[in-house]
Amino acid sequence: MNIENYKLEGDRLPIFTYPEPVLSKKAVPVTEFTPKLAKLVKDMLFTMYHAPGIGLAAPQIGESLRLFVLDVDYEREPFTNSAGKEEYKLSDFNPMVLINPVITGKSGSTTYEEGCLSVPGVYEEVKRHKSVHVRYQDLSGEFHELDADDMLAICIQHENDHLDGVVFIERLSNLKKNFYKKKLTKEKGR
Ligand code: NI
Repeated sequence: MNIENYKLEGDRLPIFTYPEPVLSKKAVPVTEFTPKLAKLVKDMLFTMYHAPGIGLAAPQIGESLRLFVLDVDYEREPFTNSAGKEEYKLSDFNPMVLINPVITGKSGSTTYEEGCLSVPGVYEEVKRHKSVHVRYQDLSGEFHELDADDMLAICIQHENDHLDGVVFIERLSNLKKNFYKKKLTKEKGR
């Protein structure tokens, strides 16, 4: 984890879904490391955990900024609440925030069935690098470097794509990409 003493609190933000234009826009770097940014990160984590998802990039909540949050190994235990609705009991958080990330090294390749909170209901295998080296800033603007493999590396590449206006369906074969683009645009147009 790179956020100390994390508490699951904040506001739940609306998640934008494809083909919302903000998802196809190249996001701009974060320049001000203010309490407002800290609040945004807190709300993004709260939103991600409750979705539930393992990563969330700022464009997905309508902020075209270069940052994302992630947690690839927290506990999600499903249970049925008193109203008979399915809920998740969440614990063991390992929240991370990567601000202005730059992937400076990559190696190997791996394939994983990905999904995205902005593309609900679609799960497809995507080819990614198995390992990445990433340079990023934290909430106080300090620079850090990170070596990531497997799931963490996949998640970083998926979220970093969002900052460049790339949703994971863009990484599929032309046939699948066009199928989903048409389907999702049609669904949204209803
Ligand atoms: Ni995504």
